[in-house]
Amino acid sequence: MNNDTIFNAGIITISDSAALGRRIDKSGPIIKRELESGNNFKVLAYTLIPDEKLIIKTTLIEMAENLNLDLIFTTGGTGLSRRDLTPEATKEVIDKEIPGIAMALLVNNLNKTPFSMLSRGIAGLRKQSLIINLPGNPKAVEESLEIILPVLFHALEIIKSESFQH
Ligand code: MTE
Repeated sequence: MNNDTIFNAGIITISDSAALGRRIDKSGPIIKRELESGNNFKVLAYTLIPDEKLIIKTTLIEMAENLNLDLIFTTGGTGLSRRDLTPEATKEVIDKEIPGIAMALLVNNLNKTPFSMLSRGIAGLRKQSLIINLPGNPKAVEESLEIILPVLFHALEIIKSESFQH
């Protein structure tokens, strides 16, 4: 693995209104733009789904196992309303949680807005796919990616290195 390595990514926008076409999704395209602004990530899948736990779980598993994506970002459904179930669905499909990612987002984003404490997003691994929950708000997505992107390449190098050692 070297600096030319390309990791394949997927984006899942989780929002009842966006899935129904009542709202234009701005956050998914921001994630794609930011990932592809460097040379190491290619977005191969992007989908909009409602806040249904089973659909969220199925989509995460499909991207991790069938599409074999290295990295999956979700956006939306991390808050406090009854339909916000992204963290619960994610927790049920990951094998290992990575609490430091959610902590880093909280610590850094709190400087920008106290409302960031209302996001319950988590991050973790399903096999060798890294799954990260981001909030739904486009500005929150931009602010969160600023914190995560500098660490992503190295994180994925470590995750993926296991498959080269065996
Ligand atoms: N994080 C940042 N950096 N900036 C924001 O504006 N909004 C918060 C929070 N995280 C926000 C943020 C708000 S208001 C909510 S309700 C939660 O994310 C959850 O958002 P979600 O339900 O769209 O995932």
